[in-house]
Amino acid sequence: MSFHNYQSFWNDKASSVQGAMLAVDGSADEATLRATGQYSARQAIAALELQPDDHVLELGCGVGRIGREIAQRSALWHGVDIAPNMVEVARQRLADLGEDKVRLNALSRTRLDGCADASFDKAYCVAVFIHMDKEDFLLYLRELYRVLKPGGRLYFDHWNLAHPVGFERFEMEVAQYVDFDHSQRKDVARNQFTCPEEVRLFLKHAGFETALVLADAPFLQAIAVKPGGEDAAVVGKRLAADTDTIAYSPEWTRWFERVLAMLCGREHPSQILADMPPRDADKDAAIYHPWIRSLWRLNSERWGPCPD
Ligand SMILES: C[S@@+](CC[C@H](N)C(=O)[O-])C[C@H]1O[C@@H](n2cnc3c(N)ncnc32)[C@H](O)[C@@H]1O
Repeated sequence: MSFHNYQSFWNDKASSVQGAMLAVDGSADEATLRATGQYSARQAIAALELQPDDHVLELGCGVGRIGREIAQRSALWHGVDIAPNMVEVARQRLADLGEDKVRLNALSRTRLDGCADASFDKAYCVAVFIHMDKEDFLLYLRELYRVLKPGGRLYFDHWNLAHPVGFERFEMEVAQYVDFDHSQRKDVARNQFTCPEEVRLFLKHAGFETALVLADAPFLQAIAVKPGGEDAAVVGKRLAADTDTIAYSPEWTRWFERVLAMLCGREHPSQILADMPPRDADKDAAIYHPWIRSLWRLNSERWGPCPD
């Protein structure tokens, strides 16, 4: 595994289809990936107030987990990613949607090469800035500003230090560095963390107006507008009325905290699944059931065989 740059890190992960799916969100199979893709897409669609004639950009599109859903509800979906192998998997997974709906290209810098100024109505970026140095986070925000039309909308997420479970997740990273040899470079794609105040500051310095920052979960979610259209305060007020769709629920956060405990060895997956309502009970159970099972199957030497 190369730790030298974003591209080699993610390209290595995506050297097989299953490796690519695992790298984007821990889904070990297509069915789990579809379920989590629909979950994340529902949030993005509401945050962006997606319209059928929208041209949409996804930065860090991975295998098209979310893009598959967005492309079916917009005029054009353009996915870009630093890893050519990810782009190739996305191309295969989305081939049935038609070439006029889907565009894909690999990036080689922190730059949206191949994307013209003011050419997109909407843009989004999920689980990508969490794997990036702050300099690149700001550079990409500037680029997103450049390629959005005036009044265009941006939605993204990031790890949230200001939430107790977000901080707990950060502590997991910190634990890896207790005996760290400073002569080695830290993994460039490691998890990184922010807080609402920093996100607002970055958005302002990239030229955006913040419409809404949802921060009551380990992932914070930001929605911003490029000036020149509807007022950000008006957009924010309207979206605030739809936070049930956009935001992570308290239940989602509760299950996420238990998954962290599972990954740290304090809980067994069978106990979490036993405590969880049935898969069809609610939208959170619908993704956690397959996701926990998929993690369990991959780690059967640790937790024993996963029952079907
Ligand atoms: C955790 S995955 C999330 C993929 C997708 N957004 C999703 O939610 O399914 C992170 C993605 O960001 C891409 N990525 C990482 N660093 C990047 C960078 N500097 N520029 C562009 N893409 C990057 C990776 O190749 C990978 O596909």
